[in-house]
Amino acid sequence: MRLKDKVAIVTGGASGIGRAICEVFAEEGARLAIADIDTQGGEETVRRVRAEGGEAIFIETDVSREVEVEAMVTQTAAAYGAVNILVNDAAVFEFGKVEDVTDEQWHRVFGVNVVGQAYCVKHVLPHMKAAGGGAIVNIASVSGFIAQPAFVPYNASKGAVMQLTRCLALDLAPDNIRVNCVCPGAILTPATERHRQFEGRDREEFLAEAANGSFMKRVGDPREVAYGALFLASDEASFVTGTPLVIDGGATAQ
Ligand SMILES: NC(=O)c1ccc[n+]([C@@H]2O[C@H](COP(=O)([O-])OP(=O)(O)OC[C@H]3O[C@@H](n4cnc5c(N)ncnc54)[C@H](O)[C@@H]3O)[C@@H](O)[C@H]2O)c1
Repeated sequence: MRLKDKVAIVTGGASGIGRAICEVFAEEGARLAIADIDTQGGEETVRRVRAEGGEAIFIETDVSREVEVEAMVTQTAAAYGAVNILVNDAAVFEFGKVEDVTDEQWHRVFGVNVVGQAYCVKHVLPHMKAAGGGAIVNIASVSGFIAQPAFVPYNASKGAVMQLTRCLALDLAPDNIRVNCVCPGAILTPATERHRQFEGRDREEFLAEAANGSFMKRVGDPREVAYGALFLASDEASFVTGTPLVIDGGATAQ
């Protein structure tokens, strides 16, 4: 029960890694607010958490819209009386070479993946300060520090998340708010499956290639990322701030 009685907001909790974070955090005693644009998926995460005896509410939120973020945080604080943890997981996946990426894609990928994280931090701050501190975990990616072919907008946004994390960690340390990020490698989620379909690749071949890129010769499971987020969100990480935790089976260590 490492998060016993802590109130945690998890954006992107309707699917994949965000859902696994909700499940693991609830198992560790956190009370959850799940913020996502996907109502059906969000309600399904709530159902799963409650089925295991956990506490969760879903709040439909587009993190790229500040008014919606502000309302979501207010609703969370009204429901639980505090906000102690924020996990910024929500993201969109916009890929391509620089000459092919549209203006709309650039604004979308930075609006959700970067500015959306900043809005969430801005609006949880008063509550974390009132609580005497807090923990923020941003989901970045190994794509934040390596190059991949035709991944320009997504990777640029994840690089920005890593810098957002460092700068926030510096500015918020006096308020006892720690800010870290998790950098997953290839993890099997609905987003991975959509990407495979987008590239028109055979499933077995796509997964074998992704697996081959790591020392462990397999892709990761969302729960393996969730445990990293759990450590960073918990008091066990009380002297950890401004740092990226890479969870990629060794893929970027070579
Ligand atoms: N799957 C991987 O291999 C991998 C690798 C590295 C990093 N990541 C990161 O992990 C996080 C989760 O990825 P995933 O693979 O679970 O993806 P996913 O698509 O399964 O989940 C992403 C969630 O974000 C939500 N979302 C999208 N736009 C939103 C918005 N504007 N407001 C609120 N919610 C929104 C979606 O509805 C979805 O529920 C992302 O930050 C992603 O960049 C994933």
